[in-house]
Amino acid sequence: MSSMIEVKNVRKLFVNEEGEKNEVLKNVSFHVDKNEFVVIFGPGQCGKTTLLNIIAGLEEATDGEVLKMGETVSGPGPDRAVVFQDILLFPWLTVMQNVEYSMKVRGMDSRMRREEAGKYIDLVGLNGFEKAYPVQISGGMKQRVGIARAYCTKPDVMLMDEPFGALDAQTRYLMQDEVIRISSTEKRTVVFVTNNVEEAIYLADRIIIMTDCPSTVLKDIKIDLPRPRSYVDPEFLSLRKEISAMLNRKR
Ligand SMILES: Nc1ncnc2c1ncn2[C@@H]1O[C@H](COP(=O)(O)OP(=O)(O)OP(=O)(O)O)[C@@H](O)[C@H]1O
Ligand SMILES: [Mg+2]
Repeated sequence: MSSMIEVKNVRKLFVNEEGEKNEVLKNVSFHVDKNEFVVIFGPGQCGKTTLLNIIAGLEEATDGEVLKMGETVSGPGPDRAVVFQDILLFPWLTVMQNVEYSMKVRGMDSRMRREEAGKYIDLVGLNGFEKAYPVQISGGMKQRVGIARAYCTKPDVMLMDEPFGALDAQTRYLMQDEVIRISSTEKRTVVFVTNNVEEAIYLADRIIIMTDCPSTVLKDIKIDLPRPRSYVDPEFLSLRKEISAMLNRKR
């Protein structure tokens, strides 16, 4: 059986207006199985967003390809929902209307889309805030809207790009638990990008560790720690030490 996602020898070269080349990804290969929670972990600016965008079909690989259930990805699709690094909500729409938006665009009737949106608003713990506008809610709540909105398209794969990077530590911990709770209720394949080693170990079934730019896969490690995990568990701490050491060694 084919993997849910297969990244095969992906290379990405950006060329600027002066013709200067910037090789961001070189020969990246890994796979993601169905219902697996895979974290892509790497240093800042190593091409994590670029890689996620290639999986999403928003960006084209220079060489290599991405397969989704054995089929070549050639563009974006509702089967691969993205939660972006900087969440963008329509400021003139309420929480409910933001979550409903993609279903409205797809022509779903208003009763059905309200029902669906309500279900996911509930799931992300935003009930009571349906009528609030983005300016009236916190950063953590905006991310919850982004997650609800992504789940509404019933994607096979959730692509999450450092969704909690801009949150304060306390809210970040809370959201990590929320994401685990949500993905155990609403079973999906998740590819989650972070540059935070603790977040990676806390969330992942498997971590793909990337090198510095031009980046490639340094290591692919299965995380077998039982859940719920604890940041201060000795096994957690030793994994953290091991992974941090790998990254310092780089290529
Ligand atoms: N559209 C683009 N055109 C040209 N260069 C780009 C483009 N997108 C990204 N890059 C370059 O690719 C490199 C990697 O960027 P990318 O955003 O993928 O890294 P990242 O690992 O997600 O970074 P961060 O940790 O800041 O989120 C950077 O040097 C960036 O300047
Ligand atoms: Mg990024």
